[in-house]
Amino acid sequence: MPPSLHDNQALSVVLNRRSVRRFVQKDIPEDVFAAILEAGRLAPSTVNLQTWSFATFTADSWQQMFDRPIPFRAPRAVMILADTHRVRAAFDAFPESPLVEHTVAVMNASLAAMNMTVAAEALGVSSVMLSETGRSGLLDAGYLKEKLALPDNVVPIMTVVFGYPRGTRSPMPPKLPPEAISFEGAYRGTDPAVMEKWLAQMKAGYKASHPLSSLEAQLQHYASKIGRAEADLQAMVFGESALSSVTLDEQE
Ligand SMILES: Cc1cc2nc3c(=O)[nH]c(=O)nc-3n(C[C@H](O)[C@H](O)[C@H](O)COP(=O)(O)O)c2cc1C
Repeated sequence: MPPSLHDNQALSVVLNRRSVRRFVQKDIPEDVFAAILEAGRLAPSTVNLQTWSFATFTADSWQQMFDRPIPFRAPRAVMILADTHRVRAAFDAFPESPLVEHTVAVMNASLAAMNMTVAAEALGVSSVMLSETGRSGLLDAGYLKEKLALPDNVVPIMTVVFGYPRGTRSPMPPKLPPEAISFEGAYRGTDPAVMEKWLAQMKAGYKASHPLSSLEAQLQHYASKIGRAEADLQAMVFGESALSSVTLDEQE
């Protein structure tokens, strides 16, 4: 952080946020959890459409629903749903455009999730966003549709788990340097050497934090679930006919 901005507490909260995966066994007080949810409710959204819903869980209610503890034994979880069901019922101003609609809903719901994590951080509560929890993330959208009785146009995108951190903070994972990701004017690609160095750091960092696994093994695990998730999401976003029309197009 630039020395001139050292005293800025809000900036410090944003820049020091880290995903945390180890929690003490202490619940989050109701007023603190309510403030976190409020940060989600007040997030910005396209045309203020607020295309999100939040399914909230305590350790007990999660255990009851999923027959297992919240990931990383966190005391609270919020499942973030991209939701255009509610707003569609209020008005139907736009032509049928599932891809645009879904993109907008995912974008807005993600911003709500981010607002929650920043608010949590300001209150001393750590969190991690999860798309793969073995039962409750983006990759389990089809399963969750049934489990939570989700209507059409409501798609789970991630679960955020919240709690008080245990142990020392994990070091910052390798972030790309400023010049690799921002540019003025026309698009500028990133030097392959920068990407190579970053990938090597990613692999080493993963190995250090998961001695029994590897980044490759983790990506392999995701890959094994992506086919099912792709089919489920296509059906949820484009309707049940989506897959058969894709197949037909491919045959032409
Ligand atoms: C949409 C989204 C999904 C994520 N899914 C997972 C996940 O399934 N499992 C996990 O351990 N971390 C997950 N993460 C956390 C990322 O691994 C983490 O943000 C990244 O490594 C950068 O670390 P940092 O948040 O500490 O900056 C996810 C993050 C985002 C934004």
